[in-house]
Amino acid sequence: MDDKSIGITVQQTENSFWLADFFGIIEGMKINLNKKIIVANWKMNPLSKPSALALYQGLLEKAKGQKSLTIVCPPAVWLGFLTGSRPTNLYLGGQNCSEIKEGAVTGEISAWQLASVGVDFCLVGHSETRRRGEDDLLINQKVKTLLKAGLMVLFCIGEKERDREGKYLEEIKKQLSIGLKGVSKKDISRVIICYEPLFAIGGKRADTPEEFTHSSLFIKKTIGQLYKAKIGQEAKVLYGGSVNKNNAEDFLIAGADGLLVGRESLKSSAFGQIIAKAGKYS
Ligand code: 13P
Repeated sequence: MDDKSIGITVQQTENSFWLADFFGIIEGMKINLNKKIIVANWKMNPLSKPSALALYQGLLEKAKGQKSLTIVCPPAVWLGFLTGSRPTNLYLGGQNCSEIKEGAVTGEISAWQLASVGVDFCLVGHSETRRRGEDDLLINQKVKTLLKAGLMVLFCIGEKERDREGKYLEEIKKQLSIGLKGVSKKDISRVIICYEPLFAIGGKRADTPEEFTHSSLFIKKTIGQLYKAKIGQEAKVLYGGSVNKNNAEDFLIAGADGLLVGRESLKSSAFGQIIAKAGKYS
């Protein structure tokens, strides 16, 4: 049973009902993250409402009946139009939010506003927003604001360059330790790490699955050090950067808990194939 269009989410799972209210997720509400998580980051696409609705409809059809979990992150302007019932394995995500709850903050979007239109997840710290001036401290505030609003965080990290000496790991560690500062042991389970090395975003080639495994283990180890080992082992680490229907499975086999997909999420057929492949490993 599921109707997210009216701001109330009721999900029936094998043995429990989970309930979220209009202003976010109430105590006890859980989304099962123990499936492969496929995130569609539409970025600033498409340009018209009919195109956005058509793309969304296409992705809905592809997600239906699949075992993986799909999160669609359209530009905020389309979010309020993506109404109607949707499969229980498909959720909406924002692409960014303000670190401030409400008030005189022209041009920004509140995490509470996202929650009020049925959004359960939000990207934060994407390299494309970091490039426009966001630093780790601001991202940390946004992470905590999203958690306070009851959302789940898709926390993007990734190094600018890869060097042979492994200095890039220091950059990853810094992004994690500042970005998660003050996030409690309880709340960290609502943070999903999206690892996107910058050279692979929007480029011609993805990272290699082997390199991803290495970085993912490092991320889990670092979270283990920041919290405790078990929390690190259980942390969800997604891979992003030039994911397509041909390479998606390689990253899942390499241990990715999911994928953050840019360009390929704008093609419902190709994205559908990624969701279906992820279903095999969910
Ligand atoms: P591409 O998949 O287009 O490389 O984009 C990756 C990305 O930035 C997803 O957030």
